Amino acid sequence: MGDDHKSFISNFEAELVVLSPGRINLIGEHTDYNNGFVLPTAIDKRIVFSFSKNKTSSQCNVYSMTYDKVLIFDLEAIKPSANEWENYILGVIHELLQITDMVKGFDCIIESELPIGAGISSSAALECGLAYGLNQLFDLEISKIKLAELSQRAEHTYVGTKCGIMDQFASIMSEDQKVILLDCMSQEYRLIDANFDPYKILLLNTNVSHNLASSEYNTRREECEKVVEMISSEYSKVKSLRDITKNVLNEFKDRLSPKLFGRAVYVIEENERVLRASEFLESGSLNQFGELMYQSHRGLQHQYEVSCPELDFLVDFSEKNDQIIGSRMMGGGFGGCTINLIHKDHIDNYLVNVKKAYKKRFKIDLTSFITVPSKGTSIS
Ligand code: GLA
Repeated sequence: MGDDHKSFISNFEAELVVLSPGRINLIGEHTDYNNGFVLPTAIDKRIVFSFSKNKTSSQCNVYSMTYDKVLIFDLEAIKPSANEWENYILGVIHELLQITDMVKGFDCIIESELPIGAGISSSAALECGLAYGLNQLFDLEISKIKLAELSQRAEHTYVGTKCGIMDQFASIMSEDQKVILLDCMSQEYRLIDANFDPYKILLLNTNVSHNLASSEYNTRREECEKVVEMISSEYSKVKSLRDITKNVLNEFKDRLSPKLFGRAVYVIEENERVLRASEFLESGSLNQFGELMYQSHRGLQHQYEVSCPELDFLVDFSEKNDQIIGSRMMGGGFGGCTINLIHKDHIDNYLVNVKKAYKKRFKIDLTSFITVPSKGTSIS
């Protein structure tokens, strides 16, 4: 297609338009790949995919407006690329081709309103939107859960991040004005009314994305696996940190390094926090819910060590302000957003103060947006 991509775009006629949202996570961080609990939901910012079959058997053209690039590939020769965004696409295609031969040549235009590296999982939105759209376009009849799972596998095999299922599950399975209490061990889930009034969900984007993120992410996963390996040598039923109580963990305290011990304590406590937070949300005890968010952040900062000075600064700032009942880093860490529950009458005032303080401390502009729990990937 080369330089003709402008005419490709102007001549494009969409057969199908799919909206694929980013996600937030109220609480339950780094618990998903430890078979634990999470409380995410999709948001009202998304990626828009326009699809059309192109009558070829295997030629595909995918245009990204964000990168102003066309990715051209042949379904018969899918292989990883040197460009990361292309691997999210190619990884999904690779996974789809493992289970079906019904995907044929297609064209697609992708337009995103999700900031990259902000911890709101633009990557899962990209994977799930593509998988969902091709499922519709070619009548593949793959269930939504299977689409989420194959999107997760794509990230493992083509991108190299050994992520859990939370982001893909939230992007695809969420419903309007609900949060999902998901048990990542059984994949059983419960939708809970996202009733936060008079508080709003405010995301503060540090606008930093430290490049430790993906390597340290996989390291955390390995550290958790080491703890499980040691404990399962004596407790054969233990398959993940989910199967370990604090009492059992304490038996191994002397044999684990303080670092590994801290990682496991964090995960066990975070799982407990998610369950308690869900009950608080259902009973309308929002102050207690918010307090657990702060505790979650402190665990991520000190025990799991995936925060960074910019995130800590924002959470500290929130904690000093009574109008913010809960605040924590969100997602994998090392940058991205904090999620805050802020009283609706004090948003403007708070934003002026926090933006000024952040700029003074880091010389970086803080960006912000209010978001609402929204439905998952859908046809427009
Ligand atoms: C990233 C991963 C998720 C999850 C979070 C941390 O967003 O993709 O699977 O592990 O980090 O909770």
